[in-house]
Amino acid sequence: MTYRRRRRISSFSLALLWLMAGAGLRAQRARLAATPPMGWNDWYRYGCRVSQAIVEQNAAALVRSGMKAVGYRYVDIDDCWQGRRDARGRIHPNSRFPDMKALGADLHRLGLKFGIYSSPGPTTCAGYPGSYGHERQDAATYARWGVDLLKYDWCSAGRVYRPDQMQAAYRKMHAALLATGRPIVYSLCQYGLEGVWRWGAAVGGNLWRTTDDVGAGKPADAYLRMTLFGFEQSGLGRFAGPGHWNDPDILQIGLGRLNPDEERTQMSLWSLQAAPLLAGNDLTRMSPATLALLANPEVIAVDQDRLGLAGRRIAAEGPLEIWMKPLAGGRRALGLFNRSDSPLPITLRFRALGLPSRLRLRDLWRRQNLGVFHRRFTAQVNRHGVVLLLARAGTRP
Ligand code: GLA
Repeated sequence: MTYRRRRRISSFSLALLWLMAGAGLRAQRARLAATPPMGWNDWYRYGCRVSQAIVEQNAAALVRSGMKAVGYRYVDIDDCWQGRRDARGRIHPNSRFPDMKALGADLHRLGLKFGIYSSPGPTTCAGYPGSYGHERQDAATYARWGVDLLKYDWCSAGRVYRPDQMQAAYRKMHAALLATGRPIVYSLCQYGLEGVWRWGAAVGGNLWRTTDDVGAGKPADAYLRMTLFGFEQSGLGRFAGPGHWNDPDILQIGLGRLNPDEERTQMSLWSLQAAPLLAGNDLTRMSPATLALLANPEVIAVDQDRLGLAGRRIAAEGPLEIWMKPLAGGRRALGLFNRSDSPLPITLRFRALGLPSRLRLRDLWRRQNLGVFHRRFTAQVNRHGVVLLLARAGTRP
């Protein structure tokens, strides 16, 4: 009797401990990326020409331009920083990165965060050493350098793991990151394989790529690719929330591949989805127009809303789409997208969309109050463009 009771108590306390540990981990992860991470990544602009000097210059520009002040914090080095492993297996940067620890310290001095990149496979996508068999050692090295985020890119891992071992491979690095004791945001990159949105959070991911590379392919296809990936995200929002986000890849703004309407479309669509906002352009030579697009505080506030609810498509009519994201305080962000090749009016019919019959609307790109509207609102939307609105229930005209 006593024995049975003790056994019951101990399995009860074990279950309690397990629940508490799970809750603790979830809380820690939510604190790590309470809102979608924002920052800069070198890959689309510099590829394998990236160097410590380039990263330092862009980090300085992130601060100088005012982007840091509106929330861009992570400075992420992508592929091609790696050198060789020494006799003890420890990874060293290549000659383009003379001192990773100093780089980390410089970024921190600027109030920025340090992101790095590796692969669960033997080599990265560009053929540099990956972390396979060195997970603990690499995580410890990153922690020593002051790293705050790891992008972990599948690449060659398919040569050493079966698809059904993918989750275990990602868990392994998560355990290694936890073992460092340093809070490190964990960014999964495996292009949406195996429905990662369903298990990304369970293996410790704070964000996970849901798509292939948005900036790959011919420049002439840049808009089609961005919209193909961006608009197909509807429905994935329920897997996102504080600490764990869908990542449809880096912003193409300022890279010369999209026109300003198309750039506003990407920025709006990503913000409505609560996607990570990673600029990918050369911040040291940005036009004022590019900066205005990246750093509009009202659009960023949609992305960073504290509720962390990702939006979705609520209506479609051929190439016209309406997206909605609930925001704190009973407000909503509404995106009116025109994917067609000619300008077209788009009408919001409030009741049909489940909205209050009177709405006070603000145009977030123009940064203008539009007034209070009863039952419907129509906007002329440019070809490939968007009108992004902030809506609150309104009674007074
Ligand atoms: C893959 C990733 C990209 C980038 C490159 C680097 O293609 O999806 O985001 O990291 O590898 O080689």
